[in-house]
Amino acid sequence: MAVKNDMTKDFLHSAYGGERLAHMRYLTWSKVAEKEGFKNIAKLFTAIAYAERVHAENHFKEIGGPTNDYTVTAGGVFGYNNTVDNLQGAIDGELHEVEQMYPVYLNAAEFQGEKGAQRSFRYALEAEKIHAKMFKEAQDLAKEGKDLDIEAVYICPVCGHTIYDEAPDKCPVCGAKKELYKKF
Ligand SMILES: [Fe+2]
Ligand SMILES: [Fe+2]
Repeated sequence: MAVKNDMTKDFLHSAYGGERLAHMRYLTWSKVAEKEGFKNIAKLFTAIAYAERVHAENHFKEIGGPTNDYTVTAGGVFGYNNTVDNLQGAIDGELHEVEQMYPVYLNAAEFQGEKGAQRSFRYALEAEKIHAKMFKEAQDLAKEGKDLDIEAVYICPVCGHTIYDEAPDKCPVCGAKKELYKKF
């Protein structure tokens, strides 16, 4: 069911905008990483871009109908730099979501009894915690000129949960089955 309260609805719009920006900038930064020879960091950016798309889609669904025009105001990190600096932008963006944005949005949705928005915000919050950590690890390596030592990145298509090398039997955040995970 679509969101009822304006405040939570505003936050869904803003979160949608933020996730969309993150999706795009990670695809761009993936290309930069590829060019610099960081094949696996490029893969990480592409995979996490997909996770942010999952979040955007979840928020979009919770906004629901009717169809209307809406001006979205959303914060987003900008910068077209080298991979070490791009990763700093990624870390900053993820930490903003983990420490500021999603806890506040989640609290508002809880206060307003918006169950669907709560789920959508919680899914994003849990994934962004993992993303912040992964980007930090990648940056530590990139600073030494090293790439990530991974085989693959797996993303849960329901909540965006992100894990290296093997999907879990059941998503720890949303319970989705292993077979559903998308491999990058
Ligand atoms: Fe993220
Ligand atoms: Fe999940």
